[in-house]
Amino acid sequence: MWILGIDTSCDDTGVGLVRDGVVVVNLVAGQVALHQVFGGVVPELASREHLKALPILVKEALAQAGIAPKDLSLIAATRGPGLIGALLVGYTFAKGFAWALGRPFYAIHHLEAHIAAAWPEGLDPPFLALVASGGHTHLFEVQALGRYRLLGATRDDAAGEAFDKVARLLGLGFPGGPEIECLAQEAKEKVPFPVPLREQKGYDFSFSGLKTKAVQLVEAGYPAPALAKGFQEAAVEHLAQVVLRAAKDTGHRVLLVAGGVAANRALQARFQEAGLTVHFPPKGLSQDNGAMVALAAWRRHQAGFSPSPLSLGATAYWPLEEA
Ligand code: KG4
Ligand code: ZN
Repeated sequence: MWILGIDTSCDDTGVGLVRDGVVVVNLVAGQVALHQVFGGVVPELASREHLKALPILVKEALAQAGIAPKDLSLIAATRGPGLIGALLVGYTFAKGFAWALGRPFYAIHHLEAHIAAAWPEGLDPPFLALVASGGHTHLFEVQALGRYRLLGATRDDAAGEAFDKVARLLGLGFPGGPEIECLAQEAKEKVPFPVPLREQKGYDFSFSGLKTKAVQLVEAGYPAPALAKGFQEAAVEHLAQVVLRAAKDTGHRVLLVAGGVAANRALQARFQEAGLTVHFPPKGLSQDNGAMVALAAWRRHQAGFSPSPLSLGATAYWPLEEA
């Protein structure tokens, strides 16, 4: 069974093809150069770029898989959350494609897709899932597919956003996560950063303090590699402390770590030594992409969920607990 998955929630055009739960093609067209001069994603430009890239990527994905549109059994797209104009491009395209082909359509939650990318075949819930990306830092208890309890979220910046902002401060490129990771590896020493919210009883996250600390340290003239290493260690330690406390309190021993930040090797090492069973997305599936949307649709189909009505619109705001 072939599933086409599309994600256009932010600035990446993602088109993926999944066959019986296995990723066969996963194409992502980024827009970094387009937005760079503005210092952030310009929503209207992102939408227009999706419109240009999407038909080309879908055609290319089908060609790479060696299949025709009629071979698709199911079409899926991210319904939300995200930039509404950007979402609408992929979501409406996918609905039109499903209608024209006479195939069922699944409206997918962006965070469920991130979770699906890290969810190994054969693993049954309940477990914990940390989604850390440029727009989200959320910790969920996954009770079942489609049944999620939010345990904690960031009070300010998302984890990836903090990596991006600190990278910019240090004069590094975008996205900042891989740049910081690279620079930290070169560092012989580190400037220590305080780990946020050490004393809390709950499961919230906060990254704005680390950002402020980075501003002060840059102004004080500390070298960039030592700063990158210190920041990364504190950010990773913060994520680990909150998640491990939640694991202890809830008794869950299995954890999925998903979203763009899950690609960070220092973070992977920290969680792997934590004594839990931890799953990360395979390479290429942690950042925004279309295959993760197809994987979520595959799980929904397997679990017997009804397809979504084509009358259902996209939405910028959509808590995962309501998906
Ligand atoms: O999931 P994603 O592609 O898009 C959103 O839904 O936001 O995540 C992108 C974020 C960016 O902020 C990027 O800097 C971060 O993930 N990221 C990383 C790494 N690779 C990507 N952060 C830390 N370390 C990395 N290796
Ligand atoms: Zn994402």
